[in-house]
Amino acid sequence: MDRFMVEKSPPLRGNIRISGAKNSALPILAASLLGTEDIILENVPKLKDVEVMCEVLSYLGAKVELLDKGIIKINSANINKHETPYELMSRMRASFLVAGPLLTRLGRAKTSLPGGCAIGTRPIDLHLKGFRALGARIDVDHGNIGAHADELIGERIYLDFPSVGATENVMMAAVMAEGETIIDNAAMEPEIVDLSNFLNKLGGRIKGAGTSTIRIRGVKKLGGATHSVIPDRIEVGTFMVAAAITKGDITIEKVIPSHVKPMIAKLRETGCKVIEEEDNIRVIGIDEPKAIDIKTLPYPGFPTDMQPQFMALMCVSKGTSVAIETVFENRFMHVDELKRMGADIKIDGRSAIIQGVDSLMSAPVKASDLRAGAALVLAGLISDGITEISNIYHIDRGYEDLEEKFAKLGGKLYRA
Ligand code: UD1
Repeated sequence: MDRFMVEKSPPLRGNIRISGAKNSALPILAASLLGTEDIILENVPKLKDVEVMCEVLSYLGAKVELLDKGIIKINSANINKHETPYELMSRMRASFLVAGPLLTRLGRAKTSLPGGCAIGTRPIDLHLKGFRALGARIDVDHGNIGAHADELIGERIYLDFPSVGATENVMMAAVMAEGETIIDNAAMEPEIVDLSNFLNKLGGRIKGAGTSTIRIRGVKKLGGATHSVIPDRIEVGTFMVAAAITKGDITIEKVIPSHVKPMIAKLRETGCKVIEEEDNIRVIGIDEPKAIDIKTLPYPGFPTDMQPQFMALMCVSKGTSVAIETVFENRFMHVDELKRMGADIKIDGRSAIIQGVDSLMSAPVKASDLRAGAALVLAGLISDGITEISNIYHIDRGYEDLEEKFAKLGGKLYRA
């Protein structure tokens, strides 16, 4: 199985162009099941998770064609299956995002129940609450979950937590329901706005995405469209931290600065210089970044998907930092690995207390999930010797051309 070898690298310098957002591409690909005409998606990142979602769509009967790098053509006119097999579901939790589109398009959807994952149990009760409110019957048997509805009828739905996946799934189910659906306490992430824009291009009537109340007026049919996926704000954040941790100077191109406000604010608190231009962000590291505290929250709060990477920086910042994880219950799997590299971290419930050390040292470490893996890559860039990271299939799920991008900046990261 592939591993990454990360060598201590000079301060990273140069320009880097950001890929399309994984977390936008996945729901938009799932939503492509709703249109009956050709759909062209641009700026789609080449990632393992995207490949799995394309396999799911093909399995369900959609025609999926790669036209060029990052450009995918989908035609779902003749989808003919409503069941997603365990083998595909087990490879990626986000496959459950096809449930909403299948339910509204075919009147039924059946998938295996998504299992737990490294960062927590990740239930789907809120997705199901939304489907039920729209009139679907839900059955669970032998590890499968089925949803059926002769007709979906718009309803007012309150999400107990602003879950990203539940907001997306309910939005997709409601887009062709009869009448109006209102989602209260909806997630406000930029990826929700991207999905809503895409659905509206297909002919949907959705208002309020990006706020906590989304109103969806059901339409009879959706057609085709061309849509470009927004830049990946978590990839942006990861390279911002790469500049800070290596005391480098990186200009990150093709970004939407308003999507990464918490990362900009927190890096400024460390003392690093962050310069925002129209669609560029330049981060200039400093010799002794200061300790900071972060608390993960739904958007526009600090993203849980950036907590591990910031923790890598906190490990070598001056003073004591605290990271509080409120979104997932078990998202500190990277802590033991960072400790193997010489970090001084204590866990107390949902808080990690990080005492900055002068330097880290290489060690064989394991990526337990996608962002934990990214944190280990960042730590490896400043550790003496060669850090060997195993289980990098997690990292491949979410970062396009990672070695090439780091190489361009002078980072020494090799696949072995
Ligand atoms: C998405 C992102 C993931 C990110 C997360 C939070 C995708 C493909 N993945 O995941 O990268 O880390 O948002 O920003 O977009 N919850 C429930 N019941 C539910 C659904 C969720 O209790 O029915 C809880 C979860 O257990 C978790 C919290 O809500 O504690 C947030 O989960 P959610 O926002 O749904 O995350 P995902 O959509 O799975």
